[in-house]
Amino acid sequence: MSDSAAFDSKQFRTVLGHFPTGVTIVTGMEDDTPVGFTIGSFTSVSLDPPMVGFLPQTNSATWAAMAPAGRFCVNVLSRDQVDLCWKFAKSDHDSSRFDGVAWRPGPTGSPIVERAVAWIDCEVEDVYEMGDHYFVLGRVVALEADANNDGDGPHPLLFFKGTLGGFAAEG
Ligand SMILES: Cc1cc2nc3c(=O)[nH]c(=O)nc-3n(C[C@H](O)[C@H](O)[C@H](O)COP(=O)(O)O)c2cc1C
Repeated sequence: MSDSAAFDSKQFRTVLGHFPTGVTIVTGMEDDTPVGFTIGSFTSVSLDPPMVGFLPQTNSATWAAMAPAGRFCVNVLSRDQVDLCWKFAKSDHDSSRFDGVAWRPGPTGSPIVERAVAWIDCEVEDVYEMGDHYFVLGRVVALEADANNDGDGPHPLLFFKGTLGGFAAEG
């Protein structure tokens, strides 16, 4: 943080933590091994052409592992997948994150996590370095919402002030 800023990094984190986000697991393949990490910075970018993006840290081991394949899949977590959110956010990058996790390859080969409320499968279009993060821009190849729906409707997982919760419609 620059010396001239009127706030420190703790204040930055605290204030930005007041912006609620959805929770995703972004997956990819490192050769034949599935890799993935918990990502809240996922965003829709463009409808035509269809593009989305997310921001991994520049020192992320998981991004380094999946980047060579040039593909990724965004899995939007449901409120029943709190355990996956924390499991894929632990800082030891290795394939054990996928132990016990049901998944299948998407159209580009990146893992689709079973029972996610939506998945968006992408080819990497561009990667921009922005401070201590990259912005990874992906061109959407295929996507689906609520494919595993059991008739109860999709229930996304939300992240707010360091905690996880569900969504309740108010209007
Ligand atoms: C709810 C939530 C959202 C997160 N969003 C991001 C994000 O957008 N970008 C990022 O780099 N890390 C994010 N993280 C942290 C990563 O999941 C964590 O640093 C993970 O260890 C990264 O994997 P790696 O250490 O294998 O690179 C998030 C963690 C949580 C719990």
